[in-house]
Amino acid sequence: MTTRVPAIVLGGTGYVAGELLRLIAAHPYLDLAAVASDSQPDEPVAQFFRHLQPVLPHLRFAGHDEVLEYVAANPVTAVFSAAPHGVSAGLVDKLLSAAEQAGTKPRVVDISADFRYSSAQAYEAVYKHAHGAPARIADFTCAVPEHLNALHTTHVAHPGCFATAVLLASVPLLSLGLAEPRLFVSGITGSTGSGRQPTTGTHHPQRHSDLYAYNALTHRHTPEITALARAAADVEAEFNFVPHSGPLARGIHVTVQAAAPEPVTSHELTAALREYYDQSVFVRVGGEPPRVKDVVASNFAQLAGVAHGRSVAVMCAIDNLTKGAAGGAVQWMNRMLGYEETAGLMLPAPGWT
Ligand SMILES: NC(=O)c1ccc[n+]([C@@H]2O[C@H](COP(=O)([O-])OP(=O)(O)OC[C@H]3O[C@@H](n4cnc5c(N)ncnc54)[C@H](OP(=O)(O)O)[C@@H]3O)[C@@H](O)[C@H]2O)c1
Repeated sequence: MTTRVPAIVLGGTGYVAGELLRLIAAHPYLDLAAVASDSQPDEPVAQFFRHLQPVLPHLRFAGHDEVLEYVAANPVTAVFSAAPHGVSAGLVDKLLSAAEQAGTKPRVVDISADFRYSSAQAYEAVYKHAHGAPARIADFTCAVPEHLNALHTTHVAHPGCFATAVLLASVPLLSLGLAEPRLFVSGITGSTGSGRQPTTGTHHPQRHSDLYAYNALTHRHTPEITALARAAADVEAEFNFVPHSGPLARGIHVTVQAAAPEPVTSHELTAALREYYDQSVFVRVGGEPPRVKDVVASNFAQLAGVAHGRSVAVMCAIDNLTKGAAGGAVQWMNRMLGYEETAGLMLPAPGWT
């Protein structure tokens, strides 16, 4: 019989936390134990997430002390942090210290950027503030689950939404020698990618019916993508990344283009991508360019590759909140707890959203 494990979510009122709650509520082996909120302790969860009322009608947000007590009282807990970067490391550190004192063993997937770098200096160079728990960094591995077979640390850092999409498209090209290591990436994200606090650039009247690039060639996720591609493909590649805000609430679409070392056909490229992801249930390689609606609200990634002479292009669509955050985190947690990787994650996209 499969052991059930209590789950804890940090960053309770955020969009990613809401998606985690939706997935955990339907998970066959995870039992939602507590969702911590700094700003809304004791308030009903369904007040914030009305769509979750049918599955979590009575749940209230917990305070952080309550969560610490929970982690100390249970031999194993599945902890998901969906707090912002700069906040998450401190929350996770407190929680792990409480567990160490009590002799319990939580497993953590941090969805923020706090544990994505292998050193505090590398993190601080990009995020411009001191790391919240440098002594914990070595306990985390950051990787797209499809690109790492054996996990050697207790905890995982989720690579994030844009990085997941870019890496799913790029790593096979680099690993298989199908692209020169100079990649040009154009990515479009939906508005939930910016979190629940509206700002001038992310507010609905600004984004609705519009499309615009931001942080072109200087986006802070580029060094994370470069490091993760190096780890997964063993290639030092240059990523020229231009992200865009798109007029959709959920979803990411990226196009990765590069020069191939020698001429290749679309048929050969598609066959190579299919073979590369042969064992990866959540990655599907189609003959047609992917659409965001193929994957929204699911943990699936849809890829397609085209080639013309020595030019290759790979498109990838994922849901930023699911595969790019909460779903990818549950996928990692399934592996960490010895469950089948697909547990609770096999529902396809609704198709019409
Ligand atoms: N949105 C995406 O598509 C996406 C994808 C991949 C990764 N991520 C990462 O996942 C994390 C959550 O993203 P999100 O989009 O859910 O963000 P969000 O909507 O802004 O929510 C973050 C939540 O964290 C909590 N929090 C705790 N301390 C905070 C503080 N000092 N300032 C602001 N919030 C604080 C708040 O909940 P309480 O007040 O209830 O505690 C807040 O609602 C972030 O680290 C983000 O970078 C997001």
